[in-house]
Amino acid sequence: MSTTLFNLQHDHIAHLQRAYSDILTDHGFDSLAIYSGHTSVHFADDHAPPFQTYGHFMHWVGLADVQHSWLIIQPEKRPQLYLYAPADFWHLPTHLPEEPWVAAFDIHLCSEKISPPLTGKAAVIGDIERLPTSTQKALKAEHHPERIVYALDELRMFKTPYEIACLREANRLAIAGHQASQAAFIGASGELDIQLAYLAASRQRESNVPYQNIIGLNEHAGVLHYQHYDLTAPKQRYSLLVDAGRRFRGYCADITRTYAGPDAPATFGELVTAMHGLKDELVKGVAPGVNFLILHEQMHHHLGEILVANDLFKGTAEQAVAEGVTRAFCPHGLGHSLGLQVHDVAGLRHPDGTPAPAPEHHPALRLTRTLRPGMVVTIEPGLYFINMLLAPLRNTDLPINWQLVDQLVPCGGIRIEDNVAVTESGFANLTP
Ligand code: GLY
Ligand code: MN
Ligand code: MN
Repeated sequence: MSTTLFNLQHDHIAHLQRAYSDILTDHGFDSLAIYSGHTSVHFADDHAPPFQTYGHFMHWVGLADVQHSWLIIQPEKRPQLYLYAPADFWHLPTHLPEEPWVAAFDIHLCSEKISPPLTGKAAVIGDIERLPTSTQKALKAEHHPERIVYALDELRMFKTPYEIACLREANRLAIAGHQASQAAFIGASGELDIQLAYLAASRQRESNVPYQNIIGLNEHAGVLHYQHYDLTAPKQRYSLLVDAGRRFRGYCADITRTYAGPDAPATFGELVTAMHGLKDELVKGVAPGVNFLILHEQMHHHLGEILVANDLFKGTAEQAVAEGVTRAFCPHGLGHSLGLQVHDVAGLRHPDGTPAPAPEHHPALRLTRTLRPGMVVTIEPGLYFINMLLAPLRNTDLPINWQLVDQLVPCGGIRIEDNVAVTESGFANLTP
């Protein structure tokens, strides 16, 4: 890690110390214990699925796989890190990296699973329900107080320069994977081999990805969270959609690219180009004071224009939006907050923690906030040919070019996704 990043992380931890002191004092707490969480074995088995440390724990230490550990935060005091590090010849013992940030904490290496020492009026947050009942009962603290969690979620919404640097680096690493995926597609690989090329080039194992990579060829590109990897390549190559990320010090990249294959109708390639243009246009709309819902509605307006310009809809863009046609072609939201979680916290809450739900017509929108400097969001317009969503429109007299739609169904769909920071003057696109 570069000296610059070390210095930024030093400032980040100092920022957290100040902000946590204020939040705890405002809510009348003397101390806060944050539990890392831990994984559980599969039923009747002794193997556990991959684990991800609780976000508020990661916010301090940037380690995404710490388990059975505690952080104690008290106003005006050094943070105490109780790191579970048992003597264990089955596994490599936990150890901390030799990095300067470690000096900001008092570190306690614990050979046993502990109950954290708490003083005064205490709160405890994290997945404590998984702890043995006796440990839970021994915690003399308010469990998971919502007002504290919402305040800390709100803090997470605004990234420090250190966090933005980490998100930028996660993007840089992920893009190497995307380039390798594109090359594998050109080389006629199937989904599994594209996935393996992605992992190799982005230097990560599958258990460390921030979300399961979506790698869909042909019609699978129209399955929004497609979850399989076919072992063999299809005979026809219409399209490839890759929605895949990378973590860097806990922070997630979430990038999507779509490619037209040699067997796709010409219109599909033109639509891919149009969707890149739409993504760029919407990224330029990111600025302080912009309501994300309005930006989402602009996406629908532009989708209407794209449907009209490409002869998919023989009415006006306004009609395509008003009649719900664009929603049948794009059922998801424009994007979401991004950070230590891919769908990061507080996107559907006002700054004071009260709910800010998605509107009825756009139920999948995950961010309803007005953009402010320090927020990081994804911008991910999509256009899909999903029979399940289009079928109800077939029985209407809406001027949809069904012949062209049917030609495009084997291509699945298109999504283009970048990660964008809101700055004082506008935006910084973190995706190279
Ligand atoms: N990768 C999931 C999403 O784009 O939200
Ligand atoms: Mn994505
Ligand atoms: Mn996303």
